Amino acid sequence: MIAGPPAAGKGTQCARIVDRWGLVHISAGDLLRAEVAAGTPAGARAKEFMDAGRLVPNEVVVDMVTARLAAPDAAERGWLLDGYPRSAEQADAIEAAGVRPDLFLLLDVPDDTLVARVTGRRTDPATGAIYHLTFNPPPAEALPRLVQRSDDTEEALRSRLETHHANVAAVVGYYQAVLAPVDGSGSMDDVFDQVEAAIEAVAGVAQEAAA
Ligand code: AP5
Repeated sequence: MIAGPPAAGKGTQCARIVDRWGLVHISAGDLLRAEVAAGTPAGARAKEFMDAGRLVPNEVVVDMVTARLAAPDAAERGWLLDGYPRSAEQADAIEAAGVRPDLFLLLDVPDDTLVARVTGRRTDPATGAIYHLTFNPPPAEALPRLVQRSDDTEEALRSRLETHHANVAAVVGYYQAVLAPVDGSGSMDDVFDQVEAAIEAVAGVAQEAAA
């Protein structure tokens, strides 16, 4: 699992983790945005909460994530859960479904740094790639199709941050035994070095246990 404040770099690190270890990336935010884009009733309900920077109600999000985790590819390749659980109720729901992580990566980034990261973020709908106009500039050919998320405003970020700070302690409490704090304030490479070390430490323990 990977957690952290909005625009901390979770999606960026997940792309690198998937490249390296081939896990199935399951992002609660991406699942919700897909519902919004498809114009489903769940998406319409989710959008008002997402744009306000608040948690989408559990009746929309819990079954969506639990069903995705139960898909065959997640069982075969292993999963990387991004942005879920975000409350004690969500943690209870996946505990009840028998879902427990080997590792809980918690990115820590100061609030002021997040403002610059969120306002400069652009995503490529064709490839899913995450760019930043300053910190990770997109290639010229991708520029015309890049999109900015509707919740990537400074105002929505403040609300998303409040939501994060109000809920993170409850979630971390569930995963204290597998918690790996990561300083997310440095470069993408610096952050990945820490992520890689934490994953390799867990993989090493698993290999020793199997031997
Ligand atoms: P979600 O999509 O999960 O948003 P979030 O948690 O706010 O996180 P972000 O996707 O904004 O950022 P990120 O940490 O992935 O950063 P990224 O790598 O893109 O959720 C959106 C909404 O959906 C929520 O507000 C809520 O309404 C709803 N929702 C989601 N999950 C829910 C749940 N479980 N329950 C209920 N509701 C839920 O990086 C950001 C930018 O910074 C990029 O431009 C990137 O290039 C750049 N960057 C990344 N790393 C670095 C670095 N080290 N240095 C410099 N720049 C960097």
